[in-house]
Amino acid sequence: MVKITFVDSGGTQRSVEAEPGSTVMENAIRNAVPGIEAECGGACACATCHVYVDEAWTSVVGPASPMEEDMLDFAFEVKPNSRLSCQIKVRPELDGLIVNTPSRQA
Ligand code: FES
Repeated sequence: MVKITFVDSGGTQRSVEAEPGSTVMENAIRNAVPGIEAECGGACACATCHVYVDEAWTSVVGPASPMEEDMLDFAFEVKPNSRLSCQIKVRPELDGLIVNTPSRQA
């Protein structure tokens, strides 16, 4: 299993155990992590699963695809480390991943 820690805008941390092949968003929803809405269910069509990837992890996670970049235009307070969590596939290399949830979704 791969450990992922979600940190909300108030600094509260919640760690979950994620199955490789699932997405970061699916694990947030499955564990009722607040701050991830995922209205479209992971279709890269809503931008309400927006997260900020911890600076130490951005190169491991990798960049957003062009389609994801387009959808991120609809997210709230986008930063260079913004990603849509439904587009981040859990891999063994992501064990220990930290993502921050924004103060609100789009
Ligand atoms: S869940 Fe809708 S874009 Fe990620």
